[in-house]
Amino acid sequence: MGGRGSNTIWGGRYKLGPAEIMERINASIGFDRRLYAQDIAGSLAHCDMLVAQGILSTKDGRAIKRGLAKVREEIEAGRFKFSTKLEDIHLNVESRLTELIGAAGGRLHTARSRNDQVALDVRLWVRDTIDRLEPMLADLQAALIDRAEEHAATIMPGFTHLQTAQPITFGHHLLAYVEMFGRDRGRLADCRARLNESPLGAAALAGSPHPIDPRKTARALGFARPMANSLDAVSDRDYVVEFIAAASLTAVHLSRLSEEIVIWCSAPFRFIALSDAFTTGSSIMPQKRNPDAAELARGKVGRIVGAFVALCTMLKGLPLTYGKDMQEDKEPLFDAADSLELGVAAMAGMVRDLEANAERMRAVAAADYSVATDLADWLVRKVGLPFREAHHVTGRLVGLAADKGVDLDKLSLAEMRAVEPRIDRSVYRVLTVEASVNARRSLGGTAPANVARAVQEARRRYLGRSR
Ligand code: ARG
Repeated sequence: MGGRGSNTIWGGRYKLGPAEIMERINASIGFDRRLYAQDIAGSLAHCDMLVAQGILSTKDGRAIKRGLAKVREEIEAGRFKFSTKLEDIHLNVESRLTELIGAAGGRLHTARSRNDQVALDVRLWVRDTIDRLEPMLADLQAALIDRAEEHAATIMPGFTHLQTAQPITFGHHLLAYVEMFGRDRGRLADCRARLNESPLGAAALAGSPHPIDPRKTARALGFARPMANSLDAVSDRDYVVEFIAAASLTAVHLSRLSEEIVIWCSAPFRFIALSDAFTTGSSIMPQKRNPDAAELARGKVGRIVGAFVALCTMLKGLPLTYGKDMQEDKEPLFDAADSLELGVAAMAGMVRDLEANAERMRAVAAADYSVATDLADWLVRKVGLPFREAHHVTGRLVGLAADKGVDLDKLSLAEMRAVEPRIDRSVYRVLTVEASVNARRSLGGTAPANVARAVQEARRRYLGRSR
């Protein structure tokens, strides 16, 4: 044991305890207690391996496992006394274990260091988080797909530059996000596959002189294999960065959809309404119904992308192997994951909650000469004009209609023929928003028939079911 006030775990060569400020800057228990379940799972696997390899007696192994189960119980019941003197979750658990079972507790750390231990715990935590996010994203896709099916033929304006471009269907618009979240799920799955190697056995940095079997612990903890290089095992946090990068893109997608919901809810648009469940009132303006959940899902992207920058900056100058800087990975990681989970769940709720104002969407879709491209395409198909010339002729007709303050289909045949004599009566058939969307049956296009098919396809691809 070390001197008075020094650390009971590593205080051998210490005469004095740390300065108060040292204890404060050093301790991570305030946030890394969230790793307790992963820490204990890792210790249980490590203990089994030590026993199987004859490094630890069966008796000590049993006592350790019983003790660890008790520690977990205490933590989960809120009875565990976390101590900043004991720095982090690893030392808090080990110290309590030894209190509970005596000297055998001190044998658990054989052939292990906090360096491979923390690398393991964080890997397991990220993996668990991905496994939780995966079904949440699938649920968000399911909500979008259901609403897309309902609105396969609901016409809305499609925008570029936020200017009315062409009529589209609301279902098609929602399915665009299903694709984005599908790629997000793919990125998380890639990240999971790459991180799924066990760092245990690296010990402090160089490996262990004990006859350990890292394959055994890797298998027990569901890893594909142990890591190949002990220095890499304790020093990289690329899996945290990769997870946060995937989370950032997911958050960006959530944010864009949130932005659209905010716009669609606004009085000048009135495309959708959210119920009481997903809006808040104003403390002064009684008429207000604010889409706060969408705004927060949009706002949280800053924290998640911020975490990415924080992690890359923390890592970029670190020499191999472990540096205490790496303790700074946890708060940004936890915050990014929490923010994303909230955002995804709130978005699934909003998508299920929103009510579309189909009449209003159609009216806006029909305004501002949104079918002008259909007229140009008709001139190409029926009159045989080169597209550039058709564009020109259509531009003149739009100008004429705008001067008169009417829609294109309100121009008389005589007025149209004055611009292009080969136009005939059949042109009027393409000048409605319904005709416009129905005509867009090319692969990936917005036609209601396409959307109905795409809904089935998306259920198969993303949800593994046909309904
Ligand atoms: N709390 C530390 C962290 O989060 C655990 C590893 C400490 N390792 C050490 N050599 N001091 O990084």
